[in-house]
Amino acid sequence: MNSLAPSCGANRANTFADWMIAVQTQTENALARSLPAGEAIPNRLHQAMRYATLNGGKRVRPLLVFAAGDLTDAQPEQLEIAASAVEMIHVYSLVHDDLPCMDNDVLRRGRPTCHIEFDEPTALLVGDSLQSLAFELLARDICKESASAARQLDMIQLLAHASGSRGMAGGQAIDLDSVGKSLNQPELELMHALKTGALIRAAVLLGALCGSPLSSEARDALDRFAKRIGLLFQVVDDILDCTASTATLGKTAGKDAAADKPTYVSLLGIERARELADDLRTQALEALDVFGERGQRLIELTDFITHRKF
Ligand code: IPE
Ligand code: IPE
Ligand code: MG
Ligand code: MG
Ligand code: MG
Repeated sequence: MNSLAPSCGANRANTFADWMIAVQTQTENALARSLPAGEAIPNRLHQAMRYATLNGGKRVRPLLVFAAGDLTDAQPEQLEIAASAVEMIHVYSLVHDDLPCMDNDVLRRGRPTCHIEFDEPTALLVGDSLQSLAFELLARDICKESASAARQLDMIQLLAHASGSRGMAGGQAIDLDSVGKSLNQPELELMHALKTGALIRAAVLLGALCGSPLSSEARDALDRFAKRIGLLFQVVDDILDCTASTATLGKTAGKDAAADKPTYVSLLGIERARELADDLRTQALEALDVFGERGQRLIELTDFITHRKF
């Protein structure tokens, strides 16, 4: 194993596909250990938390945490905690996003949504509980592994900011308020940067924070990358919503048009939305130049996010 070996334990010589499976498996196991047992009281809530979180999803945010950890020689034990925390916030956002008061979706990750499988009050509490557990993990477990309490506080603050009204929740508020309206491109960019971009950015920055400090030039470059990839992720989500099938997506296709949501496709049309995704990909990759070979997994993830089919 050479000195650039990625932190998940997979050898650098491994293919991207092998590395991805290794990180996804490590994340799945870590989440399964961190979530309360289904038999623990209140067992229905705990079963619903496990239902919503385990056995599904691409785990893109954990993959970004681990890939960014390569830039700073982060330890897998710490990356696993950061990856679990950000994925828990993401799952909470999905469970709430699917509720009847938001997108009213019945299918998620190829299975009935949490409020369909359980009930609405339980789904609400699943989101609340996953959010709290994410911060409990960061506040408790990272401390055991990390020498720096100041850095731990930075991580907690970063994830809190990305989740709240100036991050994901704020973006969701704009999304709900925009139904039936046509936003211009800067307005749409703000909505996407908040509702999806903020957590993606947090995943990248948290991964890097798990290791040795970066120079300010490298931090700025990584932040530029993180913002571009966050926007790119939602532009591709918009495109897939109207080009992929429900079976492939594991969630109901065509929802954005049906709900009259402004998206990059409704604003620009499919072809120009695809061109924008390509431009964002190029900008994201340019920002990684400064990292040379250490950025390999982030480069591969950028292509995965651009060309994904679901
Ligand atoms: C879907 O996210 C919701 C958005 C933020 C666009 P993902 O496409 O990452 O969903 P999973 O985690 O793979 O199910
Ligand atoms: C969801 O955006 C963003 C968050 C969950 C914060 P969408 O509403 O487009 O996500 P999907 O398409 O339902 O996964
Ligand atoms: Mg939504
Ligand atoms: Mg939705
Ligand atoms: Mg969508």
